[in-house]
Formats: sequence, C-alpha cells, structure tokens
Amino acid sequence: MKALVTYCSQTGNTEKLARAIFEGIEQAEKDILPVKDAGDIKGYDVILCGFPVQAHSVPEEMASFIKNIPEGKKVAIFATHGSLRGGELAITAFYDALRLTPKGAVLGTFGCRGQVKSGIIEALMNKPEHKGWALEAQGAIGHPHEADLEGAKEWAKAMVSKARAQ
Ligand SMILES: Cc1cc2nc3c(=O)[nH]c(=O)nc-3n(C[C@H](O)[C@H](O)[C@H](O)COP(=O)(O)O)c2cc1C
Repeated sequence: MKALVTYCSQTGNTEKLARAIFEGIEQAEKDILPVKDAGDIKGYDVILCGFPVQAHSVPEEMASFIKNIPEGKKVAIFATHGSLRGGELAITAFYDALRLTPKGAVLGTFGCRGQVKSGIIEALMNKPEHKGWALEAQGAIGHPHEADLEGAKEWAKAMVSKARAQ
C-alpha cells in the first residue's frame, strides 16, 4: 500500500494539516508533495488531497488535479476553511471536490478551520460574495490548533485502514 498526501496552501494552514496527516499514516509507504509537484501518481493506491476553501470552492490547481485522478485509486479529501466547521459554507466546497473524484473512489473527508489574517477579513467583508464566510472567519484565530492536528492524524490512520480493507 502506497499513499500520497498532496496539498495546496496559500498561507500555510493546509500545509500544517497535510504534515499532520502525513505523520498519522501508518502501515503504508508514504510521500508528501505540494500538488504542483505531484506529477505521476501511477504508483500510489491512496491519494489524500488537501486545499484551502476559496470562494466557497476548491482552488483551480487542486480541482484539476482531482479531476485527473484515474479510476482505481482511493481518494480522501481534506480542507481548511475560515467558516464554521460542519457549516454549510464549508461543506459546499467538499461537495465540489467530491463531484470531481472518480466513481467509488472516496474514502472520507476531514475539515477544520484555518485562521485568516485580520487585514484580509476586513477587506473581504465588504464584498457581498465573501461576507458570509468572512464574518464566521473572525472566530478561526489559532486554527488549525493542536486538537485539529490530532484529529487529522487519527483520520489519516482511519483512511488508510479503510483503503486496506476494501
Ligand atoms: C481569497 C480567499 C478566499 C477565501 N474564501 C473562503 C471561503 O469561501 N470560505 C471559507 O470558509 N474560507 C475562505 N477563506 C479562508 C481560507 O480557506 C482559510 O484561511 C484557510 O485555512 C487558508 O488555508 P492556507 O493557509 O492553506 O492557504 C478564504 C481565504 C482567502 C485568502
């Protein structure tokens, strides 16, 4: 079993989560790569793809990577977002990511909040398309924190076990 953790990250939150996920993976050979360097994925059985939610969806770079994952791979999706965990504003981005995956490939998802710089929140708050999540993002200070990273590690273990069992 060989696992790839791949991610994109503008300000480091998703990268932090990706590193915890990588650490959490046991019982598999593993690599971690930014999505821009992921290249040939033929050799991997499980691919864990992570991104920051941007404009309610998946950044284009990650969307086009997920879209090109061939059938037969197992896929797990993780993301950080400023909006509330489990809230509709974050979940729409997971729907978008899941729609791009090959049929029957998905093992599971993990999401947690990621801090947004206060200057950015203030700037985006004035734009109607961003106001909803920007308001919620005021409460994301300090995330991803230690408990988020621990949760992500456990999730990664569960994803690889699930892939093995299938
Ligand atoms: C331009 C921009 C757009 C964003 N759009 C959303 C959004 O639609 N919903 C949301 O919950 N968070 C949004 N965020 C917050 C990021 O998803 C969050 O801060 C994330 O943890 C950033 O991850 P990164 O450090 O890996 O780039 C946005 C942030 C930026 C800078």
